[in-house]
Amino acid sequence: MPKYRIAWMPGDGIGVDVMDATRIVLDKLGLDAEYPHADIGWEFWRTEGEAFPQRTIDLLKTCHCALFGAITSKPKEEAEAELAPELQGKGLVYRSPIVRLRQMFDLYTNLRPCKAYPGNPLNYRDDLDLVVFRENTEDLYSGVEFHPLPDEVRAALKANPAMNKFDSVPGEDIAVSCRILTREGCRRIVQQAFEYAKTHGYPTVTLVEKPNVLRETSGLMTREARKDAAEYPGIDLWETNIDAMCMWLIKNPQDYGVIVTSNMFGDIVSDLCAQLVGGLGFASSGNIGDAFAVFEPTHGSAPKYAGQYKVNPIATMLAARLMLSWLGEEDMASRLEAAVAAVIAAGEVRTYDMGGSATTLEVGEAVAARL
Ligand code: NAI
Ligand code: MG
Repeated sequence: MPKYRIAWMPGDGIGVDVMDATRIVLDKLGLDAEYPHADIGWEFWRTEGEAFPQRTIDLLKTCHCALFGAITSKPKEEAEAELAPELQGKGLVYRSPIVRLRQMFDLYTNLRPCKAYPGNPLNYRDDLDLVVFRENTEDLYSGVEFHPLPDEVRAALKANPAMNKFDSVPGEDIAVSCRILTREGCRRIVQQAFEYAKTHGYPTVTLVEKPNVLRETSGLMTREARKDAAEYPGIDLWETNIDAMCMWLIKNPQDYGVIVTSNMFGDIVSDLCAQLVGGLGFASSGNIGDAFAVFEPTHGSAPKYAGQYKVNPIATMLAARLMLSWLGEEDMASRLEAAVAAVIAAGEVRTYDMGGSATTLEVGEAVAARL
């Protein structure tokens, strides 16, 4: 039996293209693994009314981790309209499989490295090495939302007098999404960030929140970060508000290293960081828990390019690199990163986003050739 069992989840659209290219590289590396295919995404919503079928959940439970391409998702009304005719009118509700996956397997760390590889014409600067730790299961993405606002929820919210200003607004005209942070959620993401800074030699950890306005939630995160910082005397904790951080990241991104934040701010800041080092074609992420992890490029399914094999697979290869590291295959991880960096630096094989005309699979072959 192979050493590793890795769920292979291409998903929709270009998810398939980038995963095909990445497979060329993994095969060349000779990772001792099997890759059982797992169904996920829009096709399964349309045809089965479930984007994340139970058989996929069962399969994931038999795997060490998963590599994931991308999925298509659409707002509520469109999702219902695209269901197969026999599934319509049954009250099926589309739920994001990615959010469910993160919550179901308690993948509480979203790790997003954003490094500028020399020679990438899309780099904002060449001296950037940012790593975002985004809390992945709580915050505004907890899924605790109401519309219309039920009377009992309104009554409960009135425990805070700030709610009184909405007294005259009927329930159907109010939508509420709850920002929920727990002490444990804050503690463990902050701890991951400090530990990473320590083991990878970063002198600072920057906490990105908004405690002056979100006094309770950001306040809790800030207190946990300060507590943890005290245990890492060699590493400075910098505290920055999310809005200011967006500005600083444009002005002086080279000043930053490890960044830690809650779910939604992390979603925003990590896309900003990704763009500084070449954009969606380069942005990889790991959704990591204590016992399971899912690695993915951060881009979506880019339907207009689906099946054309023209998009950049580097983000997915860098996700595979994170996966190898997580599995403890550090040697393969470094070789893969070095091969990707060499192809970027050589500048001969580039997809359209880098100004070239190579196909997705040609990039796969070029990286494999450097291994
Ligand atoms: P997207 O990331 O799919 O694409 C936006 C644009 O970025 C593309 O049109 C393309 O120009 C460029 N792009 C994306 N990946 C690229 C790559 N590897 N190489 C070169 N260029 C690339 O975002 P969009 O268009 O907002 O969403 C499309 C679908 O994907 C939606 O259904 C959305 O819900 C879903 N989505 C899924 C995600 C996931 O699976 N994790 C994340 C983001 C969006
Ligand atoms: Mg995002």
